Formats: sequence, C-alpha cells, structure tokens
Amino acid sequence: MTSYIVKKGEHYYPSDEMKKIAWIKDEKIYNQANKNPVKFWEGLAKEGIEWKSEWKKAYVEKLPYFEWFKGGKLNFSINCLDRWIKDKGNKIALIWVPEPVKEKTIKLTYKELYDKVCRFANVLKKQGVKKGDVVSIYLPMIPEALISMLACTRIGAIHSVVFSAFSADALKARIEDGKAKILVTSDGYYRKGEKEDLLAKAKQGARGTTVKKIIVVNRVGKKVSGSKFLDFNSELKKADNKYEPEIMNSEDILFVLYTSGTTGTPKGIIHDTGGYAVHAYWTTKYNFNLREKDIMWCTADVGWITGHTYAFYGPLLNGSTTLIYEGGPDFPDPGIWWKIIQDNNVNVLYTAPTAIRMFMKVDEKYIKKYKLDSLKILGTVGEPIDEDAWNWYLNKIGGGRCPIIDTWWQTETGGALINALPGIGPFIPTIAGKSFPGIKHIIVNEKGKEVKQGKIGELVQVSPFAPGMLHGIYKNPKRYLKTYWKRFKKYYDTSDGAYIDKQGNIRITGRTDDVMKVAGHRISTAELENAIASDKRVGECAIVPIPDKIKGEVPILFVVLKKGEGSVELEKQLIKHVDKKLGPTSRPSKIYFVKDLPKTRSGKIMRRILKALLIKEEPKGLMTLVNPKVVEEIKNILKSKI
Ligand code: WTA
Repeated sequence: MTSYIVKKGEHYYPSDEMKKIAWIKDEKIYNQANKNPVKFWEGLAKEGIEWKSEWKKAYVEKLPYFEWFKGGKLNFSINCLDRWIKDKGNKIALIWVPEPVKEKTIKLTYKELYDKVCRFANVLKKQGVKKGDVVSIYLPMIPEALISMLACTRIGAIHSVVFSAFSADALKARIEDGKAKILVTSDGYYRKGEKEDLLAKAKQGARGTTVKKIIVVNRVGKKVSGSKFLDFNSELKKADNKYEPEIMNSEDILFVLYTSGTTGTPKGIIHDTGGYAVHAYWTTKYNFNLREKDIMWCTADVGWITGHTYAFYGPLLNGSTTLIYEGGPDFPDPGIWWKIIQDNNVNVLYTAPTAIRMFMKVDEKYIKKYKLDSLKILGTVGEPIDEDAWNWYLNKIGGGRCPIIDTWWQTETGGALINALPGIGPFIPTIAGKSFPGIKHIIVNEKGKEVKQGKIGELVQVSPFAPGMLHGIYKNPKRYLKTYWKRFKKYYDTSDGAYIDKQGNIRITGRTDDVMKVAGHRISTAELENAIASDKRVGECAIVPIPDKIKGEVPILFVVLKKGEGSVELEKQLIKHVDKKLGPTSRPSKIYFVKDLPKTRSGKIMRRILKALLIKEEPKGLMTLVNPKVVEEIKNILKSKI
C-alpha cells in the first residue's frame, strides 16, 4: 500500500511517492511568492480561473478595504460548470449519500448539474430575482443546496445560506438583514432515522419578513400547499435548461455568510467573486493535492464557510468530484463514514477535530470493518487538534500513510491560509504550518509590535491581504472597521493567539476574544447570553466556556433569576428557549442557578472568576469585586451539583 509520508527524526515528511504526485514539492515557492505576492496571485488567477476580461489592476488597497483583480470580469458558475462540460460533461461532479441506507446514492455529472443550475437560475429569474439581490437558502446537505447556490452565482444574485440546525429566529434575523424576497428550503431532512421538520422553522422564520415566495425541496414527502409556496422540482422541470450567465465584476459580491462575533448580533461576512474564486481554487488544489480524478469529502455542513469553500466550490472549480452526506457521523452506527469512504473510494477526507475525538471513543471494530486504502490526504479544520487526536487520525484512519493537513482559517478569510503543504511538510501534531505561499502572517503584542520567535501573541495578517478575504460586513462598515482594523490598523486582526516555532511554522493557541468553538461551531458568548436574557424569568446571566474532551469547549451557563428558585424543569425550559432563539448547537451543557454573579465596581461580570471555579483553579482578583462573598456561595453550589 502506498505510503505518502515518512518519519524523519521526530516528524513526518512527504514520502517519495507523495513527492511524485504533489503539485508543489519545492520549498522555493514560499520565497518566490513572497518576493512579489501580487504578481504571484496574478499568475494563479490567470492559470486557474476563466475570465471574460482581464483586470486592470491586480490589487488596490485603501485600508480598511482592498480589492483583487479590479476591473476583471467573470462569472463564478462558468468556472464551476461551463468550462468542464465541453470535455468532461459525463464526469461525476457530485456524489450525494442520503442518510436512509435504503435510499440510493445519487451521482450528478457536470452536465446534469449544469442543466439543473441553469433551470433553477430560470426559476429564480421568473420570481424576479436579479443581479445583486439576496436569496436566502435554508437547506440541509442535499444536492439542491449546491444547485441553488450555483444558480444564484449564475444570475449574479447574492446567496445567504443559513445553517439548517439554526432556529426560526436565527433564520429571521438573517433574512431581515439581507431583505431576501426568496427563501429556498426543504420540507425536512433525515437525521438519525427521524424526519426533521425544517419547513415549520422556515415558515416561522419567513413570517413577517420581505420573503414573498418559499421554494420547497420535497425531501421527506410532506404535503405543502399555499400560494406562497413553490415546489422546487416541478418548477425545475418546467424551466428552460439554458441560462446565459451574468458577467460580473471581480469585486461584486458573491455571497454573504453570517458568523458570530463578540456582540449579540451575527455579522454578514461579504465575499466577492474574483478573489474568492482564485483563493478557493488554489487552496483546494495545493492543500489537498487535489487531482482531477480525485474524490474529495469535506464533512462540513454547507451552513458554515468550510461547507461553502471545500464541500462545494473548491472541488468544482478544480473539475474534480465532491462527496456530500446528509446524515451525522454515528447513524445507523459509527462505521458509516468509513463505509462511505470505502464504497466511494474517497481520496481526500477533510473534517473537524471534534469528529475525530468522537470516533476515538467508539469501538475500533467500526473502523476495522472497512478498507480505507483510497485515502491520500487527511485534513482538519475549525479548532486546535491535540496530539492524541492527531496521532489517532494519522494511524487509525490514515493507516499511518497519509499526511494530516491542519488548516487554519476563518469565515472571514474565505479559504485556508495557514497549513503545511502535502508535498513539503513537515506534518507536526498541533502545528498548523506556514502561511500559504504569497500570504504573510506575523505575531504581534497588544501594541502591534512584532514579538520574538517562540513568543505567544496576536496572529495578524500583513498586506497584501489574501484574495479570498472578506470585503466588509453586510450593511455594517463600522463594525467591519472596529472588529478587524481598529487594534492594529495596518494588519488584519484575526482574534486568534499563536506563536511561530524555530522552523517558521505557526501554532495556533486559540481565540483571544469572546468567541467559542463548540464542536467546531463558532458561537458568541454575547449572542448566547442575549438569547438567554430574553427569557422573562432571567435577571442576569453569564456564559463561561470550559474545555471538553470531545467538543473542544462547551458553554456553561450561570443564571440569576428575577424571582424564585431554579429547578430541573426550568433548566429544560431555558434549553428550549436557546433552541428557539439560536438552535440546539448553542445549548449550554450545564446550567447553574445562583443568587448573584461576581462583579466589579463598575458592574462588569467577572467571567474569569467563574471559569476558575469551574475548572477548580484558585480564582484571582477577588479584591476587585464588589461582592466577594458570592464566590464562596458559587463554590458551594458547584460542589453540591457534582
Ligand atoms: C479556529 C472555520 C486551530 C480559530 C474555518 C478561528 C482553528 C476560528 C483552526 C474560525 C485550526 C480554525 N487550528 N484553530 N486549524 N481552524 N480555527 O469562522 O479560532 O467557523 O479564528 O471558520 O476557528 O472559525 P470559523
């Protein structure tokens, strides 16, 4: 069996076999690219993307804004579809594995996908969708999610995908921000053998908003009636299968995706067309060494940026094959992922550490049952991966043969930015690697001064900023400026801590702001606290993230009630309230009802002290509290609950 890695000393490096197939095997690329990053990206843009007309200026920067390939014209869907159907129309673009095992896997060729995308573009057009309009998409992992998104890009409409596990309220807030007239959703989807009722949430979320029509994919066979609703597939059948793509400017908005920040409201991250296309194309190709014949499975949901860039767009921009799966990792049993890899000969698996940690806990027989020889590259994303999980992934899934590409990036960056390249390495547990060629990150202190090698500080990106980077926050330029450009002015502020090791590799130490990563999902403490505080019985509350063996971190909730005592019943009701406001991914894992919260004289809640109590460390800074007695009270409550 081919091994793609070799151990030299303590670390793994690409083997000769890997070097043979690697797109990039010479470290010189870093120096070459960094000598003139703009020229480097221009070369990649010309080679990887089909333009209708070339840009006038490759990079224009006037902070806090910058633009790539200014004046260049293209259509995104041409790059994902049209350019492939000439020579390889019958090649499989998408493999979709439904959750119910009795349902067949569906394979769509580039030609079939193209046909459906054109038809759906006509459906949207008939409903009045035009270039620049926002279309809300609230769909699970089914092919129609990809079809709807690509149809938007064909028209030049802006898609705004909302994670299907988010609540009706979360959907509503996102629809209202984008003023979408059309919502694309499904009557439901399968999860652990049950039918999830997505439509009920969709209807509720759309009520009283700008949404005029709801286009519903029939996934679970529900009857849908009413003049507001259109059936996805019957509309598709009626529509023409040709759609002349709208030629867009490179800097036109491709999509908006909401993510959590440090305040109570999510922010609509804007990605533009040309820069994102170039970034998605090349990071998919180089980071996963994706070859045309390869099958890539990125397990992320399309509701997150990883789903956008690496489950859908990256592999299609490369003319490869992408696999998506409707269900979760443990149904009908925890062998399902490995069965999917075996049955479909998956070559690249890209997932989150939280999934790996979950699999580490289950009986190995579920893995051993399946042959995973087709795998060449393993990727991780979303949170730091610890050494144990890394080694387990390498040995149990990769058979000790495949490099692990630990990619650091964010919703804001559009695509991966820091990781080792498969043909170069080294592959070291907990170390992401170097910035992608042509990109530069440094570590600075709070004042913005670069710190010494080996010292932990703030991770920032240096100009010229990566082509896939955000181009603002939808309708909120002030927040864009404040969040990313206020602290360090000329550097992009990632809000992550990191240090650089002796070999120049970057190790990410985690968020430095009030953003949690719970099972890889990005959740804001402020947003969660706001949601909880909106329950009438809650007087005050505080969310404190603590480490968790599987999820990485989990939120713990402290509540001060307006009156009365806490109870198991009230705990359940508060969880329900969170489900309604945000969705089950944001659920606190434990709730403590307390009489008061530790506060400073100015009234600031000291979450740091609560955290120390939770992880059984001696709390510091009690002198600054107006109510130091509360610390003992809370200690007792925590003790009595264990
Ligand atoms: C964290 C996900 C350590 C980081 C693509 C970042 C990581 C946040 C890694 C963005 C990694 C992402 N190692 N931490 N390889 N990748 N992160 O927007 O804190 O959901 O700021 O994007 O995830 O999360 P987001």
